[in-house]
Amino acid sequence: MKVGIVQMNSKFGEVSQNTEKALGLISSKQADLWVLPELFNTGYQFISKKEIRALAEPVPSGPTTQSLIQITKTLKTTIVAGLAERDGDKYFNAAVLIGPKGHIATYRKIHLFYEENRWFTPGNLPFQVYPVSYKNENGQSLKCKIGIMICFDWIFPESARTLTLLGADVLCHPSNLVLPHCPQAMITRCLENRVFAITANRIGTESRNTETLRFIGQSQIVTPHGKILYRAPEDQEAVHVVHIDPKTARNKSINPYNHLLKNRAEQFYR
Ligand code: ACM
Repeated sequence: MKVGIVQMNSKFGEVSQNTEKALGLISSKQADLWVLPELFNTGYQFISKKEIRALAEPVPSGPTTQSLIQITKTLKTTIVAGLAERDGDKYFNAAVLIGPKGHIATYRKIHLFYEENRWFTPGNLPFQVYPVSYKNENGQSLKCKIGIMICFDWIFPESARTLTLLGADVLCHPSNLVLPHCPQAMITRCLENRVFAITANRIGTESRNTETLRFIGQSQIVTPHGKILYRAPEDQEAVHVVHIDPKTARNKSINPYNHLLKNRAEQFYR
C-alpha cells in the first residue's frame, strides 16, 4: 500500500489558496492514502468567534470537502484532512475521511489543545476505524483499517490504544504541532500498539494578536516496530510517499509468551 504525507505552510484565512496548494502536492505523486495536516485549509490560530464563524464549513457540503471529494474521485485515492467543521452553532476541529466514492466519515478532535478550547467544542463522537481499499503489487484487492486522531490526541495514549483495540492498522494523524515531543512520542505509540502512524504536520509561523506560534514540521511515517520510514524537515514543505504492508500491524505477538493486547491486565487499570 502506498501512503503519502503532505507537509505544508498554510496561510491563515486563505482557504482556497491553501486548498489549491494541498491538491497540487497530492497530484504530484500517486498514493492509495494521503494524510494532510490539521486545519490545513484555514490555518491554526483563530482569534475570534467571528473568524471561526466565517471559516468553518459544514461537512460534506462545504467547499473544502467538495474539493477533496473531486480530487479523490479523479485520482482514485483516499484522503484524511484536517479542517474546521461547522455543525449548527457548534464548531469542531475535525478531520474528514474521503474516498473515491465521496465522504466516508468525520472525526472530531477529542482532546483540544490550548486556545482551541475557546473556539471549538471537544469531539462528541467515539474513535472509530474504517476500511481503505488498495491493491498490492500483484493487483490483488486488499483492505487496510485506518483510525484517525488529531495532533494533541497523541499525549493521551488512550487515543492510539483505543484505535488499536478497534483494529486499526494505520493511525492517520493530521497535526499542527508546536510542542517538540510528538515526533519521538509517536514512535512509542507505534511500538506499544504495533501500528503504523502517519503524522502530517505543518511548518511556518503564525503571528496573530500578540502571540506567535511556530510549527515544528517533521511529519513522519513510522512502522509498528518503531522505524521511521520518512521524516520531513522542520522548515520545508514536503510531499512524500512510502510503501507499507498493513499486515505487519496485525501481529501483536512479541514472543511466544507476550502479546501486546492479550497481556493487558485490565483488572488493574483505571
Ligand atoms: C495541537 O493539538 N494542534 C498542538
